Order: sequence, then C-alpha cells, then structure tokens
Amino acid sequence: MAYNNIVTDTKGAVGIIRLDRPKALNALCAELFEELADALDKFEADENIGAVVLTGSEKAFAAGADILEMQPKTYMDVYKSDFLSHNSERLSTFRKPVIAAVAGYALGGGCELAMMCDFILAADNAQFGQPEIKLGTIPGLGGTQRLTRAVGKSKAMEMCLTGRMMSAEEAESSGLVSRIIPLDDLMDEAVKVAGEIADLSQPIVMMCKESVNKAYETTLREGIMFERRLFHSTFSTEDQKEGMSAFAEKRTPEFKNR
Ligand code: CAA
Repeated sequence: MAYNNIVTDTKGAVGIIRLDRPKALNALCAELFEELADALDKFEADENIGAVVLTGSEKAFAAGADILEMQPKTYMDVYKSDFLSHNSERLSTFRKPVIAAVAGYALGGGCELAMMCDFILAADNAQFGQPEIKLGTIPGLGGTQRLTRAVGKSKAMEMCLTGRMMSAEEAESSGLVSRIIPLDDLMDEAVKVAGEIADLSQPIVMMCKESVNKAYETTLREGIMFERRLFHSTFSTEDQKEGMSAFAEKRTPEFKNR
C-alpha cells in the first residue's frame, strides 16, 4: 500500500511510523488510519522488528480526528459504519511495544492515539488535551477512559469538560507521560529506548506488555494470577535460560526470541 499520510522507516530493529499530514497538523482522517493499520500489520509480521516508535512533526503529533471529514456526517452515518471502531483502534491490539514520541499538539484523537501506545515520551513543547467538548461532542477514541486511568478522575474530568490543554510538565507530573525530553533529542532518545527494548527477548517483552495491560482490565487478584502464570511460562523459554545463565556467568545475554 502506498502511503499519503504517514512515512515509515526502520533503524535496526526499531520500526518508525511518522504521521505526516502537515497541512492539517496530522489530523487523523480515514485514509491515515487505514495506512497506520497497514504499517502496524507489517511491523507486527516482521520478525526483525522488536519495537516501534510512533511520532508526528515538531508542531503536532496529531491535532485530533479530522474535523472537516466528520463535520457532514449524520448519526446514521457514524452508527451504521461504526465510525472509529475499525482501523483507528489497531494500535491498541498491536502486540509489540510502541513508544509515542510526542512533540507539539496531541489533541483529541491525537492524545487518544498517544495513550494507546505503551508509553509516551514527550518533547518539552508537547501539549495534551481533549478539546472535543468545544466542538459539541465528546472524546470518541478512548479519551474519557484512558485519560481517567492515567491521571485520575479530577484532572481527566476537568480536561474533558473544559477542553483545556496540559503542558508537558503537567503531563509528566500527573503520570500521563513517562519522561520529558528536549525537543531536539526526542527522536534519538525514543529510538534509543525502543532499540534497548528490541534487543531483549521479543516473546518475553510481549508477555510483559500483556501483563502490564492486564492491570487495566481486571481485578488485582486476577491480574496477579495472570502475571504469575505468564512469569511461570517464561521458564519454558530458551531466552529465560540464556538471560539467567548470562547473569551467572557475568556476560551479556544473547537472546534468540525463543
Ligand atoms: N481536523 C481537521 N483539520 C485540522 C485539525 C483537525 N482536528 N486541526 C487542525 N487542522 C487544520 C486547520 O483547519 C488548518 O487548516 P487550513 O490551513 O487549511 O485552514 C491547519 O490544520 C492548521 O491549523 P490552525 O491554522 O488552526 O493552526 P493553529 O496553530 O492556529 O492552531 C490548534 C493549532 C490549536 C491545534 C488548532 O488547529 C485546533 O484547535 N485544532 C483542532 C483541535 C481539536 O479540536 N481536536 C479534536 C478533534 S475531534 C476528535 O479528535 C474526536 C475524537 O475523540 C476521535
């Protein structure tokens, strides 16, 4: 598939997806979602890729779902087509780690897309928000749910009800982003971190991601049991044997993704 709204690249074992619709501040149109899903399918199938970085431009990660595309739609259009329920959720089912490297605006669907990633590294100019309320609608790609889980009810409620933007500092202090990076270093740092993850055992990394994500979807006891069983199952892998042997033998492990 030829891409008109994204650009993909690889650096070693890291797949890079750059949202690239500069004239609309990377607004998320249907074609962009289709291309993003296609790129994710390809990186998921590629055994040489161990982690992915999703980024935008220095001005905008993404300024939201495409308002001009949504503006003429009726209730019947969005209900019958189950608008936003197909390609736009593909990130949330991607099994390898994805880091969102966010600079500039991450608003509405842009903020929601970043929150579908496994963690967010924010440039110092990043701004996050759910401004849908100002358009007479509400977040539709998980914002009311993921933002609330990330920053708690009070801040999520305030942001969704007022549409105000949150700075990188506020996003870090409230737990939405893992770290703030100077804008000029954002991509180098994101690719470096993704590369470190990609050098680990891919199946073990996937199990770890699955286990952390379970914390969002179950009770504490069930989540701990899920983690325990996955932990036990790592002992059936060659990579666990290699990792622990390498530690005992004071050498660097060589994981084989088995
Ligand atoms: N959809 C479509 N086009 C958009 C867009 C969007 N979400 N955001 C920006 N653009 C376009 C603008 O229309 C403009 O295009 P033209 O040059 O052709 O007029 C171009 O991008 C540049 O935008 P601005 O001139 O507005 O740039 P700015 O620097 O003055 O302002 C901004 C930047 C504050 C981000 C402003 O563009 C803005 O408020 N954008 C909309 C943000 C928003 O409301 N997002 C939520 C969308 S709804 C949603 O996402 C639903 C959901 O949950 C899934």
